Amino acid sequence: MADPAPPAASARAVVILAAGQGTRMCSPTPKVLHRLAGRTLLDVAIDTAQTLGAERIVVVAGAHSPLVAAHAVKRLGEGAISIQNPPLGTGHAVRAAETALAGFTGDVVVTYADTPLLDAAAVEPLFAARRSGAALAVLGFEAADPGAYGRLVMEAGGGLGRIVEAKEADAAERAIRLCNAGVIAAPAPLLFELLGEVTNANAKAEYYLTDVVGLARGRGLQVAAVLTDEVRTLGVNSQAELATAEAYWQANRRHEALAAGVSMPAPDTVIFAHDTVVEGGVLVEPHVVFAPGVKVRSGAVIRAFSHLEGADVQTGAIVGPYARLRPGAQIGEGAHVGNFVEVKNATLGAGAKANHLAYLGDGEVGARANIGAGVIFCNYDGFDKHHTSVGEDAFVGSDTALVAPVRIGARAMTGSGSVITRDVADDALALERGPQVEKPGWASRFRARKLAARSKP
Ligand code: UD1
Ligand code: MG
Repeated sequence: MADPAPPAASARAVVILAAGQGTRMCSPTPKVLHRLAGRTLLDVAIDTAQTLGAERIVVVAGAHSPLVAAHAVKRLGEGAISIQNPPLGTGHAVRAAETALAGFTGDVVVTYADTPLLDAAAVEPLFAARRSGAALAVLGFEAADPGAYGRLVMEAGGGLGRIVEAKEADAAERAIRLCNAGVIAAPAPLLFELLGEVTNANAKAEYYLTDVVGLARGRGLQVAAVLTDEVRTLGVNSQAELATAEAYWQANRRHEALAAGVSMPAPDTVIFAHDTVVEGGVLVEPHVVFAPGVKVRSGAVIRAFSHLEGADVQTGAIVGPYARLRPGAQIGEGAHVGNFVEVKNATLGAGAKANHLAYLGDGEVGARANIGAGVIFCNYDGFDKHHTSVGEDAFVGSDTALVAPVRIGARAMTGSGSVITRDVADDALALERGPQVEKPGWASRFRARKLAARSKP
């Protein structure tokens, strides 16, 4: 039999259960590929496993959702996926991972891909319980309404005796408020040995993972229950539950940002992504959305109603109101990006300004250059993207179309309304527009003619 007492720091593996149907999401997208803070629930679970230092991670997916398997394989490789077909319960699901974990003798933690608020900090204490001598450690919580959760039946000595599923529980057991969060840690050989003894002789005719607790006690092994906050155990089964999880996550993240010195007069209107970096000393005005991949340095201001994704904003820069920074936008020190300006895969040098109504895609703008209202980097010819370069201290007149590939020299200027298709030398003015024609008195003659025609019977 496996030795239940591992060395102080044993190797770790995480088995992520993701074979559920997820039908209550009412969505063609598999449940665990829905996103929380811009990251799929499956990625949240994988990231948690990696934060825990897992050297092996196995995702158990159902045969009904090839997209889930494909996502896991893309992130972790072929060996990291086990298909459970058909799904016959949580114990059966963990057994599906046995082959993938062949030869692994360290600790296995079982988690769910649909409980995104159970982070590494909530799971880590299970390892401490294992180091203190428990053969198995189970994560539990005090449920406000225990409902359908498995109940933790504790023993006089403080250890966990067994878990009884709600459908199996008698009245006294149903009254227990201490519930199973679903996360369990055990040495791999012991876990699979116990799972081999689990039957489906129960109300749901399923193989319950939770039965391993009673089986371990039957062998005289110690089982510990470690408690976490109920809110962390929230399982996502519907769009409403996903929104609840998101709201909880966002509230926490806003709290952290405020504590770190980010000014937010209306924090409840600011949306963060899982990887947003906003340093202390940044002002974030109301209704700002940070999609993934954004870094904002201290001293920058993100004004109201701006949407940022994959962007870097340096100190002293002002972005918005109503700005859109798309992936690859690099806003230099003290640069300004104003209302209805879209920047994609483009760099603005220090002190450069694009204050109104512009599209800057695939290019670079030199330090202190000024981009007038309505300027467009015409980067796409229907097949390929081309590059635009605007030199330092250049002045691009309002409504200039820069047809890429094109380069505007340092200190050069373009006349308003020009369509620039050829490079402009340093210090030159490029002008591309028809000569202005003026017909004296024409407007009043036109008006008189129209009015006369109207007054005819
Ligand atoms: C399970 C626990 C229960 C606990 C509750 C916490 C068991 C028997 N019961 O119940 O004690 O209080 O979670 O939320 O473990 N899954 C598979 N394959 C399967 C069945 C489930 O991968 O065959 C996955 C699901 O996708 C889900 C997780 O396992 O992520 C839990 O399954 P679910 O059906 O929600 O279990 P519960 O009945 O809620
Ligand atoms: Mg459940």
